[in-house]
Parts: sequence; C-alpha cells; structure tokens
Amino acid sequence: MSKPGAPEPAAPEPAAPEPAAPPQVLFVCLGNICRSPTAEGVFRQRLAARGLQDRIGVDSCGTAGWHVGKSPDPRSTDAARVRGYDISTLRARQLQWEDYYSFDYLLAMDESNLDVLRREAPVDYAGHIGLFLEFAADSPVLEVPDPYYGSGDGFVRVLELVEAASEGLIEELLQRA
Ligand code: 4NP
Repeated sequence: MSKPGAPEPAAPEPAAPEPAAPPQVLFVCLGNICRSPTAEGVFRQRLAARGLQDRIGVDSCGTAGWHVGKSPDPRSTDAARVRGYDISTLRARQLQWEDYYSFDYLLAMDESNLDVLRREAPVDYAGHIGLFLEFAADSPVLEVPDPYYGSGDGFVRVLELVEAASEGLIEELLQRA
C-alpha cells in the first residue's frame, strides 16, 4: 500500500502476448521415399519463395519403417529436379508418437495413411489430421496415388498434385497466423 497523498503506483503493464509459435506441418505417406518427401521439398521451396521459411515448420515421414534412413526414390528425385526441386538430401523416417506433440498439421497422402494417423493419435490431440489434397483448390482427387509400383508418369502426377495443394496450404496457414 502507498503512503497517504503519495501517487498510486502505476498499474503493471499488461504482459505482451507471447508470439505464436510457427505452425508445424508433417506430410505423411507409407514409405517416406516418394510422395511425402516430394511434398516436403515442394512445400519448403514454395515457402522460401515467399520468404516464409522461418514462419512455418515442415517435415515428412512414413507410417511404415521399411525405408528408414534411405534417400528418396531416384524416380522421385529426378522428377522433382526436372521441375526445379532438390529433395536429394532428405532421409526417410517413420512416424513417431512424439510427432503428435510436435506438429499442428498431420497431412496424409491417402486414406490408408490417414487411417493410421487417426488410429494412433492421442485422444487429446488438438491439431489437424487430414488429407493434404483437401488444400488443393478444385482438385478432382483427394488422394495422391502411390507411384512406387507404377510408371514414371505417376511421379510427375505426384508433383502436380502436391504443387496445387502447397499453394492452398500456405494460404490457409497465412490466414490463421
Ligand atoms: P511412398 O511410396 O509411400 O509415397 O513413399 C512407397 C514407397 C515404398 C513402398 C510403397 C510405397 N514399398 O512398398 O516399399
């Protein structure tokens, strides 16, 4: 308490709000050597092109562990390079429990991997679990087809689809920021 007649002490300044942590996005496919590393590479480059690389975090993984530690499939690396993306330094890893505590958006390439993400999720997971292509405006499909056992065309198709969804996802994240 202050002395009678003394000026009242100034009320403490309200604490400045903590800056929001950058949203973290995890792309998820089966093996983490074709679709999700392609999505990661495309999305990273699109973020960098807009100067947003420090405002949105990105990673990728597979629900299966068969290719852990491996580089992307050379067909994915080559198809990406032709369109100006370098995904050669990425390495496959498997989905981990901790990912639910680190990522705000868990984006599956297809329904089967979406099922895994939902099934494994902690009951209190408060982030977004969905299909990546839900962010692709006017996309005729919602799944990125698995190109692993198919022809080279499938790898180009993956790129087309993830490019379209990347733009939509960036717009969504900017609106939420
Ligand atoms: P991804 O493709 O899930 O897009 O990485 C696949 C990679 C490997 C296998 C299947 C799909 N595999 O059966 O080994």
